[in-house]
Amino acid sequence: MNSQQPTPVLMISGEPVIGPTGRPKHDFPEPPPLESHGPARIISMVNQKGGVGKTTSTINLGAALAEYGRKVLMVDFDPQGALSAGLGTSPHELDTTVYNVMMERSVTARDAIVETDFENIDLLPANIDLSAAEVQLVNEVAREQVLERALRQVRDDYDVILIDCQPSLGLLTVNALTASHGVIIPLTAEFFALRAVALLVETIEKVQDRLNPDLEIDGVLATMFDQRTLHSKEVVGRLVEAFGDKVFETVIKRTIKFADATVAAEPITAFAQNHPGSKAYRQLARELICRGGAP
Ligand SMILES: Nc1ncnc2c1ncn2[C@@H]1O[C@H](COP(=O)(O)OP(=O)(O)OP(=O)(O)O)[C@@H](O)[C@H]1O
Ligand SMILES: [Mg+2]
Repeated sequence: MNSQQPTPVLMISGEPVIGPTGRPKHDFPEPPPLESHGPARIISMVNQKGGVGKTTSTINLGAALAEYGRKVLMVDFDPQGALSAGLGTSPHELDTTVYNVMMERSVTARDAIVETDFENIDLLPANIDLSAAEVQLVNEVAREQVLERALRQVRDDYDVILIDCQPSLGLLTVNALTASHGVIIPLTAEFFALRAVALLVETIEKVQDRLNPDLEIDGVLATMFDQRTLHSKEVVGRLVEAFGDKVFETVIKRTIKFADATVAAEPITAFAQNHPGSKAYRQLARELICRGGAP
């Protein structure tokens, strides 16, 4: 996909600089612009644990990819509608959302997708209506493939589709995993966060077995990293032991700016362009592209 290679960051002495994950640090090159667009690679942000940075990572990774000229569709797949609100829409006022696209034959994804104020970013919004879908889907034929079918119609219009999942491993999340090429697992750099991951990996493996053999784990992303604590570093060390190179070299530090950006309903990359949080998500976008996780 992308042949650009990361280059090691060296000290004046020639020794490699060690990054926050305990491995040698790299510079990820600026991706060249794309000559043509689509079909999109589809990536789900998944962790059944709440408040780990799924929505924040969807918005800001998506915004960073959009800055690099990638056409991005963000799919809000959480009835709370936090992604929709975070991109400046009022989800409770919307008549047509991802719920209608999934449950009504006559409604297509194109009918529900809205443009955002941000260049190269469209949104397939959600609101509380989606909370009924989990129950209603149970009686559908091919109930795990409903989202996949819905996204198929618009895949050619985008380079990347990011699905922001709700904190659960229920049927909606299984739909997201079935529709996806890759999964990103955001996780707070805290010990108790590690426990949830085993169950998540089991679910991903079941989906690979039964529904979507091509599904890959694109990466594990440490969020809310506190560089001052040994604790954060130990957790990331444990993650690297368990997941090896799947752990993104990029870690997202803890900062209140993310909450401020949410209040402003903007990606941090727009709200505070030069903030370290913006730079971190741009680096994540470049790292993902270097890995072949996005065009
Ligand atoms: N790196 C960070 N530093 C500080 N706060 C953060 C960071 N990332 C996210 N937050 C804040 O933590 C809270 C939870 O983040 P977010 O909503 O992205 O998590 P989530 O996994 O989507 O949650 P849910 O499971 O409820 O959907 C939010 O208030 C957000 O602003
Ligand atoms: Mg969320």
